[in-house]
Amino acid sequence: MATLQVPLRGHAGGAPTTKAVILVGGPSRGTRFRPLSLDLPKPLFEVAGHSIIDHCFSAITKIPEIQEVFIIGYYDETVFRDFIKDAARDHPHITIKYLREYQALGTAGGLYHFRDAILKGRPDRFFVLNADVCCSFPLQSMLRLFEEKDAEAVILGTRVPDEAATNFGCIVSDAHSKRVLHYVEKPESRISNLINCGVYLFATETIFPSIRSAMKRRADRPRLVSYPSSDALDSYHVPRSGDEEEKTEVIRLEQDILSDLADNRQFFVLETKDFWRQIKTAGSAVPANALYLMKAWQSQSEELAKPSANILPPVFIHPTATVDPTAKLGPNVSIGPRVTIGAGVRIKEAIVLEDVEVRHDACILYSIIGWSSRIGAWARVEGTPTPVREHSTSVVKNGVKVQSITILGKECSVGDEVRVQNCVCLPFKDLRRDVANEVIM
Ligand code: GTP
Repeated sequence: MATLQVPLRGHAGGAPTTKAVILVGGPSRGTRFRPLSLDLPKPLFEVAGHSIIDHCFSAITKIPEIQEVFIIGYYDETVFRDFIKDAARDHPHITIKYLREYQALGTAGGLYHFRDAILKGRPDRFFVLNADVCCSFPLQSMLRLFEEKDAEAVILGTRVPDEAATNFGCIVSDAHSKRVLHYVEKPESRISNLINCGVYLFATETIFPSIRSAMKRRADRPRLVSYPSSDALDSYHVPRSGDEEEKTEVIRLEQDILSDLADNRQFFVLETKDFWRQIKTAGSAVPANALYLMKAWQSQSEELAKPSANILPPVFIHPTATVDPTAKLGPNVSIGPRVTIGAGVRIKEAIVLEDVEVRHDACILYSIIGWSSRIGAWARVEGTPTPVREHSTSVVKNGVKVQSITILGKECSVGDEVRVQNCVCLPFKDLRRDVANEVIM
């Protein structure tokens, strides 16, 4: 049985050391990101010209003291190979490794399984970032609060509209001291509109013993703990004898650890006033794209297209894309590699992925166009705008809940003059007539 080595904090009088973990999940997760995740693991999907995981990683690289980053998940070893190669080339002072769980162990179970790797070199603390969130990752401010309060854990929180709060982990905190008093994952009734952003900073000497205690509690009463997460429902099964061990290894920060930390630990919340969204459904990539483009625009990023009469910022155009000068793009548009955009095209609030062809005078609004798709002349592909404050990507049309963002999977084709409205279209479909509010299988 492996022993748990717990380092002393601020060891040998030196500066505290900090690592970071990005939790990426695995192929059984991200099902709500279909049809886009059928062709690419969600963390590698590009918004605002960078993969979702790259947005997390680049926030980590802004903290100079972090020299080791782990990506923990249960995707195949090859999935993040190119990302890691590029990241290591661009940031030679950072070691970045993929640690693969042999099966889904849960957001805390994965950390615990790889505790020896995380604890190597005796770091004092480490960040944990859920890869499926889009935010400005104010890691420096979290570190500051951690030090100011001599904390054992800091969680990033944000306010959401009251009616949305119960879809998230809710935090009750002391407004003055910022101490977390109470944490409930998706409560049945409203307890607070301050919610968990999925970004944490943990003291190593606190978090691993907390996970171990939760595992022990779990082992002591295995039959009471068989709740599946929303994504895990697909694979959840009725226990047979011998299954207990497998099931009891799933330990989640949200359900099993955070409420305990709130009860008896130095646990604080940093409330961000900056943007935050989850990236769960495929449609949620469109607001995430807009928010990251806006951030790049505010920081005067050189990567964005220069504004002009036909470029309404912020717009990202990959250098290998060809855009006719009469096409009007923006705001909040990302154009991928080798895309060709014809004359008179209009694109707004949209992501156009690699190798797409958009023929002349087509219009694309509130949509994602999948890899190698083809949009005909005068065609119209459109979703419905949702209010900026909304944390949902569905709308009700004719009494039916449909996706507000239109999504075309890989290699779809939309005929000339065809109109596609609020549809999710699986890969390889040929749309030759107008469609609205449908999932096209
Ligand atoms: P809810 O719909 O809120 O229940 O969320 P979810 O089940 O879709 O995601 P969850 O909050 O459980 O996951 C948060 C982050 O952790 C995401 O980036 C997931 O990919 C990742 N994650 C979830 N489960 C696991 C796991 O078993 N192992 C690892 N390494 N990552 C995980």
